[in-house]
Amino acid sequence: MKTLVTGGAGYIGSVCVEELLNGGHEVVVFDNLSEGHRAAVDPRARFVRGCLSDPEDIFVALEASGADAVLHFAADALVGESMKDPGKYFRNNVANGLNLLEACVRAGVKKFVFSSTCATYGTPERVPIDELLAQRPINPYGESKLIFERMLEWYRQIHGLEFVGFRYFNAAGASERFGEHHRIETHLIPNILKVPLGQSASVSIFGTDYPTPDGTCVRDYIHLKDLADAHIRALEPGRMGFFNLGNGDGYSVREVIAACEKVTGKSIRVLEQPRRPGDPPRLVAAADKARTELGWAPKVNRLDDIVASAWEWHRRNPDGYPD
Ligand code: UFG
Repeated sequence: MKTLVTGGAGYIGSVCVEELLNGGHEVVVFDNLSEGHRAAVDPRARFVRGCLSDPEDIFVALEASGADAVLHFAADALVGESMKDPGKYFRNNVANGLNLLEACVRAGVKKFVFSSTCATYGTPERVPIDELLAQRPINPYGESKLIFERMLEWYRQIHGLEFVGFRYFNAAGASERFGEHHRIETHLIPNILKVPLGQSASVSIFGTDYPTPDGTCVRDYIHLKDLADAHIRALEPGRMGFFNLGNGDGYSVREVIAACEKVTGKSIRVLEQPRRPGDPPRLVAAADKARTELGWAPKVNRLDDIVASAWEWHRRNPDGYPD
């Protein structure tokens, strides 16, 4: 298929672009490089530097691409930041996303694949989380993604734009070529790995008094290549709706640190800090719907293997991308 990928220079987008190209799809990457990196764009893709805040920019790129499908990764995605600057999240994830939706309708795009998040569930009533659970976000980031999910449903009903929305749990790991480089890193695994890389003296644990077995937050880490595989399946005809994407295994912050120590062979100093606002205690996926309806099954399901792929990339690229 001909595809346009927003955020294709970002962490998750870069690996999805790589896998789309490996699968024989054509890809135009549309990215403003605010978070992404030019070097993270697979050279087989065409790159357009543009911003979703400009409705004309995106329409022109879409028309020129002749895309049948749009995969929308571009977004702000930090829980903590959204608790300090909610406007940034509603502007970029909702208002700029709306520009993209309108351009898709105008350009006659058939399919829209959206990067949503388990943060739309807030603090869930039960775990593991299936798609039928109530969505009650506890941070503006999750709220902004939920608003966009609702918009998608209206655009389907009114304009016939077919969509698949993926609620990612914690994206992690790397491919051989592309990995995680945020200019300001807040994510757990890359922050832990900075210690064995010699770039930090210690890693902070945000909150040790959660109602979890060891008092630290529990998350479901899912490898980028498995996320990419689901996106490719979403392009097949007839695929529709919202799907959780996670391994179904929960690991506490302390367990992730232990896995990093095992994989790197180095001991990692920790600093116990207060809770970070907006963090739910436990997020673990029930991804049965994706398994049944998309035939999807994560292949990298051991935390050690996920961490090992991240470690491999960071060891080879200790300073991340050059730009
Ligand atoms: N954490 C630490 N120390 C750190 C970094 C994180 O203790 O240095 C903790 C956090 O407080 C949290 C857990 O590790 O409890 C995971 O934090 P991340 O920042 O790695 O990931 P989040 O769960 O906050 O958020 C990520 C993405 C979101 C996505 C969410 C789904 O950034 O976009 O996963 O859970 F919605």
